[in-house]
Amino acid sequence: MSKETLISYLNKQLHSEYQAMHTYMYHAATLQNEELAAALREFCREEQNHAIMLMDLIEHMGGVPEASCEVNVDQEDDILSSLVMSIAEEDSAVQMYTMIRDLMETPAQRTIIESTIAEEKRHHAVLQDLLAKAKKQMF
Ligand SMILES: [Fe+2]
Ligand SMILES: [Fe+2]
Repeated sequence: MSKETLISYLNKQLHSEYQAMHTYMYHAATLQNEELAAALREFCREEQNHAIMLMDLIEHMGGVPEASCEVNVDQEDDILSSLVMSIAEEDSAVQMYTMIRDLMETPAQRTIIESTIAEEKRHHAVLQDLLAKAKKQMF
């Protein structure tokens, strides 16, 4: 695979991180559930760190991180549907980072991506717990 193609994958994932940051920021502010809002604020900071990590990697590989992008936050005020959507997004982040990890050239880069995968998996698990709680309260 060419370096340009790999950089394009990293930029595509960078866009997903922008999307995740904005989605969690928005829902942390608007959902009326303090436990959920606290978790989403923490996730937002972690997604921001992932974005910075990706920018560093792109720079290091001689590429240009995409700084401007369009994000579409689903302004869904229903807790259940926003949790289901976020769980799907976390799942796709795990898949994408797993592919990226296997394409990285150095063990150090693979280790960085591996720790990012662990965080995305944790987001996925926490969101699933919160979804189970939300369902119990609502049904
Ligand atoms: Fe992330
Ligand atoms: Fe995440």
